[in-house]
Amino acid sequence: MASRYQEVYAAWKHDPEAFWAEAAKAIDWDRPFDRVFDPDAGVYGRWFPGALCNTCYNAVDRHVQNGHGNQLALIHDSAIAGTVRKFTYAELKREVVALASVLRNHGIAKGDRVIIYMPMIAEATFAMLACARLGAIHSVVFGGFAARELATRIDDARPKLIITASCGLEPGRIIAYKPLLDEAIQLARHEPDHCIIAQRDELRCELVAGRDIDYADAVARETAAGANVDCVPVAATDPLYVLYTSGTTGQPKGVVRDHGGHMVMLKWSMDHEFGIEPGEVFWAASDVGWVVGHSYIVYAPLLHGCTTVMFEGKPVGTPDAGTFWRVIADHGVAALFTAPTAFRAIKGQDPQGTFIPKYDLSKFRTLFLAGERADPETIKWAERMLSVPVIDHWWQTETGAPITQNPVGLGMLPVKYGSPGIPMPGYDIRILNDAGHEVPNGTLGNVVLKLPLPPGCLPTLWNADKRFHQAYLDEFPGFYKTADAGLLDDDGYLFVMARTDDIINVAGHRLSTGAMEEVLAEHPDVAECAVIGIADQLKGQIPLGLVVLNAGASREAADIEREAIGLVRERIGPVAAFKSVIIIKRLPKTRSGKILRGTIQKIADLEDWTMPATIDDPAILDEITTALKVRGLAG
Ligand code: COA
Ligand code: AMP
Repeated sequence: MASRYQEVYAAWKHDPEAFWAEAAKAIDWDRPFDRVFDPDAGVYGRWFPGALCNTCYNAVDRHVQNGHGNQLALIHDSAIAGTVRKFTYAELKREVVALASVLRNHGIAKGDRVIIYMPMIAEATFAMLACARLGAIHSVVFGGFAARELATRIDDARPKLIITASCGLEPGRIIAYKPLLDEAIQLARHEPDHCIIAQRDELRCELVAGRDIDYADAVARETAAGANVDCVPVAATDPLYVLYTSGTTGQPKGVVRDHGGHMVMLKWSMDHEFGIEPGEVFWAASDVGWVVGHSYIVYAPLLHGCTTVMFEGKPVGTPDAGTFWRVIADHGVAALFTAPTAFRAIKGQDPQGTFIPKYDLSKFRTLFLAGERADPETIKWAERMLSVPVIDHWWQTETGAPITQNPVGLGMLPVKYGSPGIPMPGYDIRILNDAGHEVPNGTLGNVVLKLPLPPGCLPTLWNADKRFHQAYLDEFPGFYKTADAGLLDDDGYLFVMARTDDIINVAGHRLSTGAMEEVLAEHPDVAECAVIGIADQLKGQIPLGLVVLNAGASREAADIEREAIGLVRERIGPVAAFKSVIIIKRLPKTRSGKILRGTIQKIADLEDWTMPATIDDPAILDEITTALKVRGLAG
């Protein structure tokens, strides 16, 4: 089939408002919008002002009303617990209504914040939708973050209530959530009124009298009482959620997502970008704590009337490298979306794909990869093994949906390995040099997006318009700075090469090295430190800490290193995958005192590097090279 991409992209460019007005017809609005886009509202304009709508209604109720109540909406498959739970749209609605009723009884109303700190259990999806139903703003915190990270988010979002579970399951260990919750509440200045706790059989916890509510008991009571909670109409421009993502400091950025634009963009993306039909099974093997989980585990598949799969497990080791194929076969999955790391892990354990023929993958049509650079080797391996298109696509927490892709729904374009595709409608990508001038095709520069951003992108940061300006809009006036460096080729394909800030990408998880440095600096023996991301065959990148000790420090180096590693795990969480620290005599700096992180990274990654002209003392780089070599961290 010839691709309709050029025609569709040109239609958007010709008249963006007409384009999004047409896309908005796929959403049920309680009151129509006054205009498609108001350029004078908000920081850079707002989409669909004047409209009233409800995301939960569009994701759940309308499918029931349209006669699809018996269709499967959600399949929860835990490869760790060995359980599968299935919910039709009618059952999903019952679960969501009952929980919304519990929330309402505890004072939650439109605009209130609710933090959801949960493992990958079905109740996490119910919780997000119950908030959406009431017009409350959810903020999901990834379970692999430590108590202090949760506390930071509690203080920023100021939730009235927290929904959590007694435990999460990681291979070979049970993560007790309750102690983390209690510690976070103790650390935070803001105190939630209540916590709703889903007890899991693997590890139950004691509830705090007066504060904690047993999830199952409370929901059962509401169900027995025949609770009914209507979807609360909210402005299309009201926030649906706040999702914190790494910034350049320890203070994460609260990415705000609105209701109207978000629904329009996600619904459009399912058809046109992902090529999925309502009724098909869509599986995003991510976590609800990340944006991929928000958009493509919960909201997009449900808005589109698909069956979504929530998976608790890992691509390998739960129990083996055939788990993904087992889930695809068991549930008739049409499309899988995951991070390249997952496929590198499977390829590492089963390079010949011996598990694949054991499963019926006849319904499986497309593999989508995103979240980090997809190396051509891994893409080609997946293509060979699965005989389906493998689609790399690029986006960010901030955009909520792909910026570039090979739009299978519009008809495939030629694949260029190493490129996550071409701009999707809504995105006018430019490459600028540091002075803000556009560079010719093929030239590396700052990847920026011409304003306004399309529906579904963040309108601002939570309570931080100024930070939004500073972080994204100020450096290149008229453009949104992605903080990725890359190039466009003559056919309009984007190649994303690196970040221009201190964010690193570990197994598809976005982490701030600045935040890790702030933690290391708290160690009493550490005078100075730098954290860089070094290449890793499995996870893409892993963090490496370089620390300089205080003059008087006399303790064993190994003890200090162990403590430093423990500190990052305790303060940020195991997800940081912070396992390497080396103690060095001094850090290489420019004469103005800037640490030469980029040069150290090149040395560690065995890339060509040149001596920076501004270096304070060139001998330090030799010291670092030796230190890295001794530890096997550089050639
Ligand atoms: N709660 C508590 N701890 C968690 C957690 C959670 N929800 N998620 C991860 N962790 C812990 C892990 O147990 C691990 O701890 P450890 O250092 O004690 O082993 C650490 O955080 C790092 O986790 P992870 O990045 O998952 O690495 P892993 O070594 O456990 O597994 C892979 C390696 C390749 C299997 C895994 O990284 C993977 O599946 N990656 C796919 C990427 C992905 O889904 N990305 C999401 C964005 S699309
Ligand atoms: P996150 O906000 O966690 O989704 O991380 C976004 C960042 O991940 C981007 O700015 C990129 O640096 C990186 N990223 C995401 N997808 C891709 C991709 N397909 N190719 C290269 N980098 C990617």
